[in-house]
Amino acid sequence: MRIHRRRGWEIPESQATPEAFVLNRRALMAAGGAAMLAPAGAQAQWLFGPRRDAADPWTRLPADLPDLPAATRNMRYVPGRDLSPERDTVTFNNFYEFGSDKGIWQTALRMPVRPWTIKVEGMVERPGEFGVDDLIRRIGIEERVYRLRCVEAWAMTVPWTGFELSKLLSLVGPLASAKYVRFETATIPAVMPGLRQSWYPWPHIEGCTIEEAANELSFMPVGLFGRPLPPQNGGPFRVVFPWKYGFKSGKSVSRIVLTDQRPKSFWETLQSSEYGFWANVNPEVPHPRWSQATERLIGSNERVPTRLFNGYGDFVAGLYTNLRNERLWA
Ligand code: MTE
Repeated sequence: MRIHRRRGWEIPESQATPEAFVLNRRALMAAGGAAMLAPAGAQAQWLFGPRRDAADPWTRLPADLPDLPAATRNMRYVPGRDLSPERDTVTFNNFYEFGSDKGIWQTALRMPVRPWTIKVEGMVERPGEFGVDDLIRRIGIEERVYRLRCVEAWAMTVPWTGFELSKLLSLVGPLASAKYVRFETATIPAVMPGLRQSWYPWPHIEGCTIEEAANELSFMPVGLFGRPLPPQNGGPFRVVFPWKYGFKSGKSVSRIVLTDQRPKSFWETLQSSEYGFWANVNPEVPHPRWSQATERLIGSNERVPTRLFNGYGDFVAGLYTNLRNERLWA
């Protein structure tokens, strides 16, 4: 993601590689079997130790954050890979509001995540402002293990807890005129030093079409590894589109707008020739400055082939059949 200044996405791979963290593989396999039986929170505690263990600063969460209700893993979404190590998942992040390198997790942990409300407005029948805990109670949560493919050619496998975006949108009733959904990340200057970098187009905006929002894969995580979603991963509330490059998944969302205008997103505003609106994963379409044919798995550092739509084509390919003139892969 090259504009004039060097950003974290451009640091050499050797610097971007997180500290090795090896999980007992047998324990992970056992976890796969137990997934059918145990709620996500219980699995996470069994596998990764008690929540908020003071010995593991990378799992530290604000003390007043309520635990998530137990969530059952939805086995319809099979990642076909081991989970990424939890430690790497919560300490190797892209979140430019907190800084442009991968190690922003401690800075991000200063962000207050309660109370947290999300405005959902624009072309809807019933605009509203919802507390995140209220949404969790009203909609209910489940766990889904998704692959996350960053445009920088690294990947993770992440157990998110949350709910489908479509369930949130059904609370407000999208109007027929709504064609797009825009996601806006909160701006909290007191705790987000990145906002002082005025050359970035804050607030962070991302967007998708109303059809993409309605797809069953579009997910709003409020948790990770059975714990509440930590700020560095976009807590308390973010969006993920697992078939798109990771930059499409806006973090710490506080406003969602349904609109008839295609949102111009953060990275598209900065460098539209490299980062577009669609950003669907495609191994055969290289980024202008590097190949997208393979990806490095965070944790093991193994390099594996990248798959079209990040392997989710059965769920989403139909969304794009009439859009051949669009830049679907950038
Ligand atoms: N959302 C906001 N608000 N700010 C960001 O800098 N980075 C994006 C995306 N969402 C980003 C963001 C990028 S580039 C990626 S790859 C993913 O978040 C990384 O998510 P993770 O840190 O949970 O792995």
